[in-house]
Amino acid sequence: MQLPLNHTLASIPPSGIRRFFEIVAEQSDVISLSIGEPDFDTPWNVRESAIAALENGETHYSGNRGTSELRMEIANYFARRFGVRFDWKEEILVGNGASEIFDLVVRAVLNPGDEVILFAPSYVMYAPLIQLAGGTPVFVRKISEIQRKISQKTKALVLSYPSNPTGETFSKVDLKKIAKIVAKNNLFVISDEIYAELSYEVPHTAFASLPKMKERTATISGFSKAWAMTGFRLGYLLAPAELTAAANKIHQYSALCANSLSQAAAVEALRSCDSEVAKMREEYRLRRDFCVRELNRMGLKVGKPAGAFYLFPNVRKKTGMSGEEFALKLLKKEKVAVVPGNAFGEEHAFREGGGFSDFVRISYATNLKELEEALERMERFVQKS
Ligand SMILES: Cc1ncc(COP(=O)(O)O)c(C=O)c1O
Repeated sequence: MQLPLNHTLASIPPSGIRRFFEIVAEQSDVISLSIGEPDFDTPWNVRESAIAALENGETHYSGNRGTSELRMEIANYFARRFGVRFDWKEEILVGNGASEIFDLVVRAVLNPGDEVILFAPSYVMYAPLIQLAGGTPVFVRKISEIQRKISQKTKALVLSYPSNPTGETFSKVDLKKIAKIVAKNNLFVISDEIYAELSYEVPHTAFASLPKMKERTATISGFSKAWAMTGFRLGYLLAPAELTAAANKIHQYSALCANSLSQAAAVEALRSCDSEVAKMREEYRLRRDFCVRELNRMGLKVGKPAGAFYLFPNVRKKTGMSGEEFALKLLKKEKVAVVPGNAFGEEHAFREGGGFSDFVRISYATNLKELEEALERMERFVQKS
């Protein structure tokens, strides 16, 4: 029987990262620089808090919006780190990762036919989730293109910085330029700032901290990256009360609440992990510097990005290969996995000829010893190509 699946879903390609990951999974002895997941263990005190919560029987549903304790801690954290105050009762919603939160926000905000502007290359979830919420993604590559792409139907702008896949971020000057366009055109901003803590030289500026932007911004963040807590599946929304209430309406029907043990662990993460986070950040910075130096030495020119744990070099210039050919051959010949850049392009498809098909994404969320070995292999591969 042909199952009557949703038409929009049928038109969306599967995640390019995941498809490549499946090819990688079929091989053995591969050094994977392909996933955006910290190699660090979750700080022990955070894991201990989850264990204590389990022992104390905190195994029940929490309130839909998350525990009061965690929401208060998130409010304190955001005010302390980024200088923006949110009311923990009405302006914060805890969910199952930044992923669920983004889905909730677009479903809460969009009506069929609304257009949403976002930057390419971009993280793979945005365009599909916008489409599933009835919206139309409209891509720009530079701030200067935003105004031209705004139409009667434009409702929101998605920001995501530091960026997955490039590691680049927006300076305060850039953000002010964006804020001006946003105010002039009465846009709503959805700002995914999950890599905020992984900003290496210049401290992160929250978009909501800019004058008059808090009232028109949904800030999304979570614990997966800086606290190495991917499996805890915990993220949050900071937004005007009307939006958190609307998003919570969906969340209470589709998820009910986030995992209670994870929420207890996250309280500890925010209270007592600043030094652990700083240690991981410093380690990522060293890895970034090492990888940038080695890639440039082998002729894959790449700048030093400001944050996250990704590099996005153009491989065509040096090797003549597309990102996809490079990734597949590198995997076969030297057993190193990277992700073809077209997974992050405008079509979000792992497809020859799509946007950013001359690039690959390299994740340095892998220990230095493996990075050294992987880059040695990559250099051998580049020299032979
Ligand atoms: C920019 C960005 N946002 C969100 C996520 C997903 O975060 P979470 O694990 O909280 O769902 C990722 C994961 O790679 C990401 O790179």
